[in-house]
Amino acid sequence: WPALARDVAAIQDLKRARRAVVLAHNYQAPEIFHTVADIVGDSLALAREAARTDAQVIVLAGVHFMAETAKLLSPDKTVLIPDLRAGCSLAESITAADVRALRARHPGVPVVTYVNTSAAVKAESDLCCTSGNARAVVASLKAPRVLLIPDQSLARNVQAEIPEVEILTWAGHCEVHARFTPQDVREVREAYPGVTVLAHPECPPEVVAEADFAGSTAMMQDFVETRRPARVALITECAMADNLAQRNPDIAFVRPCNLCPHMKRITLPAIRRALETMTHEVSVPRDLAGPARRAVARMLAVTP
Ligand code: 13P
Ligand code: SF4
Repeated sequence: WPALARDVAAIQDLKRARRAVVLAHNYQAPEIFHTVADIVGDSLALAREAARTDAQVIVLAGVHFMAETAKLLSPDKTVLIPDLRAGCSLAESITAADVRALRARHPGVPVVTYVNTSAAVKAESDLCCTSGNARAVVASLKAPRVLLIPDQSLARNVQAEIPEVEILTWAGHCEVHARFTPQDVREVREAYPGVTVLAHPECPPEVVAEADFAGSTAMMQDFVETRRPARVALITECAMADNLAQRNPDIAFVRPCNLCPHMKRITLPAIRRALETMTHEVSVPRDLAGPARRAVARMLAVTP
């Protein structure tokens, strides 16, 4: 604890000196989420806040694609990711060349890309979406067929909600959410009769079908804090329940959960080092930045 307290104090001083803010995703560990984070939220909230902040420096306590998105929306600011290894299995699953090949195979079909992708992939897309607005973004296109890539689970979950649109997808998956099974949910229900089960839409549709509600991390938080179930299972990354439990001590949070190894690369010492050394600075090549920013901005225009 004394070491953690020293890191927290040093980070607070460095933030003032550098005119920096820390944006933390909901999957960050409580010792980051409840101490040094200035803004917390889901991918959509972090993108919105990155566009709004007047800080000089943004430290992204999350994964690399989130830092890239922040840089796209705040090109004049310095954006730091505390550990370059904080990647994402979805972002790794598809390349810009793959998107071009999909377009050639499906001419005229609009391409909606999940924000969990590289800037190069975003640059090949018509617009982006997050788990919080995927349905609204797809519906806004009013197209009979839409490519929603690269997360096949998200695509299949959105397809179930809007059957009138034919959704084509890609074989990407989140290594964290793909591990959950319908059996996990049934076991939780057997062990805790009456438990409310919330699932992230990166879970396979068979898992979402067993849940009471599916939504982005912010939507899960909203559900818990407005509906206040006595006992809840969050079928998602473990930090989600850890962070909500601290804010809601009267609600019982039960497992299962899975850890995201990429999110866990971000630690207090790594954030401190990032601000001390101003590394690792995230940049987006100029030729990609314009079209990638357009795809993110179009998403924010659909769901401001
Ligand atoms: P959201 O916070 O947008 O729901 O995203 C979850 C996620 O897995 C981010 O990597
Ligand atoms: Fe990527 Fe899944 Fe980790 Fe989110 S939880 S960063 S989608 S690997």
